[in-house]
Amino acid sequence: MGTSHRRFSSVRVVGMATMKEREKTRFELQERIDAAKTQAERNRLGQFPTPPKLASDIMAYAVSLLSRSLKIRFLEPGFGTGPFYSSLLRQVPPSRIEAAVGYEIDPNYAGPAEHLWKGTTLRLYVADFTTTEPPKAEAAKYNLVVCNPPYVRHHHLSQIQKRELQRSVARYLKFMMNGLGGLYTYFMVLSQAWMAKEGVGAWLIPSEFMDVNYGHRVKEFLMKRVTLSRIHRFDPNNVQFGDALVSSAVVFFKNSPPSSEHEVEFTFGGILASPTVSDSIRLADLRHISKWTGLPQGISRLVGKHNGVTLADLFTVKRGLATGCNAFFILTPEQVRQFNLPKKFLKPILPSPRDLETDEIYADENGEPQIQNRRYLLSCDLPENEVIEKYPVLWRYFEQGLEAGIDKRYLCQHREPWYSQEERKPAPFLCTYMGRPTRRSKSPFRFILNHSKATTANVYLLLYPKPDLAASLSDHPGLYRKVWKNLSSIAAETLIEEGRVYGGGLHKLEPKELANVPADSILKVFSDGGKFKMRGQMELFA
Ligand SMILES: C[S@@+](CC[C@H](N)C(=O)[O-])C[C@H]1O[C@@H](n2cnc3c(N)ncnc32)[C@H](O)[C@@H]1O
Repeated sequence: MGTSHRRFSSVRVVGMATMKEREKTRFELQERIDAAKTQAERNRLGQFPTPPKLASDIMAYAVSLLSRSLKIRFLEPGFGTGPFYSSLLRQVPPSRIEAAVGYEIDPNYAGPAEHLWKGTTLRLYVADFTTTEPPKAEAAKYNLVVCNPPYVRHHHLSQIQKRELQRSVARYLKFMMNGLGGLYTYFMVLSQAWMAKEGVGAWLIPSEFMDVNYGHRVKEFLMKRVTLSRIHRFDPNNVQFGDALVSSAVVFFKNSPPSSEHEVEFTFGGILASPTVSDSIRLADLRHISKWTGLPQGISRLVGKHNGVTLADLFTVKRGLATGCNAFFILTPEQVRQFNLPKKFLKPILPSPRDLETDEIYADENGEPQIQNRRYLLSCDLPENEVIEKYPVLWRYFEQGLEAGIDKRYLCQHREPWYSQEERKPAPFLCTYMGRPTRRSKSPFRFILNHSKATTANVYLLLYPKPDLAASLSDHPGLYRKVWKNLSSIAAETLIEEGRVYGGGLHKLEPKELANVPADSILKVFSDGGKFKMRGQMELFA
């Protein structure tokens, strides 16, 4: 362990205050230090404290995984004021704690924390945990590592820092990390180098890694390098940290290679000691599941794959168009009038779902959507010299875009000319791309029946009926509404399971994920009572 760091040590004296009183003081201290910092400062170092009750719950479960006869060697990286250390002191007798070490980079926390924990076993180092050399001797390692690491996203880490982090993981663990992971992924993986054999790790981290691409390496680590005991995911609608919008999970693992028969416990919702749902899954099966947030609820469905029809059999699903700058290319009727833009280059486009007051969009005789908040997409394929010559008014508008640097934006730069838009034909069925469950609806997603010729931006997914379905719909236009009703009645859980969840309960569905959703109920529209028949090969399913 590095000795060059400033160390706040403490001697073992019996404190006057009970541990409960110290916890109260710790909490007040934490609040005072947090309040003295700006949000930007706290974001920079990922300073979001663990709520005291949660810290106790996590500690109780982590300690339960250790053999009772074992003396504890405790490590809390990213110590803050030490909520986990505080819980440990309240949960096990001091005689069981052989060593307790904390690492905290910010002296604003470390100084007062050192003072607070004087007289206990704690050694607190003011140092960067990720650049500190782990102990070499097995006896100097830790058998209980509990941590709420800083949630600093990768784009807030410098290239140099990322390279250093990756190098450390490669050096100590011979493991490659994905450069897109946040600082917390490095904290967790690096901690293995600090852990004694069979030691227990407990990590309160964002649940994002369970679904997103960068999480792949983290999951590899959890499945291959250690024995993953349990992952508890909190209900994203019950945000654990008021001020950091993240959906959280707690990961428990042991520092030992997994056995071939190992089963991982997945729990969800409620509290750690009493989750709403729980189930176990064999590690061998877990390896085939790419999205872990579907667990525990979806185990049976994910492992025993759905063999029926999916939306992909009936629809081509596409994301709406990306303009590169909605504020410039998507205009209100007032703006169209104000800039006197030629109609020829304007197409109706739907407003964002927030501003769309209805789920069924009727059309007027021109195919324009009959909605309150009309919008128009500006798109022109003519080269600049032709616009200048033939449409000087339009050119004046484009000049404003040039002045604002819109032509230099990533998407615009890759288009020729920069003010032309990709083609996205209007679709009769739409699904919102992201959302949160509301009091009105359990489902974060809305399906929309679009009778108009309005296209959409990428806040919607467009469902284009495949030829067989399109032919059936054209034979029986009354079916549009039936298909839409069926889409709308797809269970919220089914859509949520296919999609991904972000902080604060924000759910997203990519086109492929929506296409994966079972569509058996839609086919029933065609088989019920034999009134409608699906054309072509879809008949086989119906
Ligand atoms: C999410 S907070 C958790 C604090 C405390 N353990 C808790 O649970 O309330 C993360 C802590 O890690 C500290 N930190 C950030 N980067 C660090 C680093 N590289 N090394 C050590 N500590 C760091 C922050 O200052 C912050 O106090």
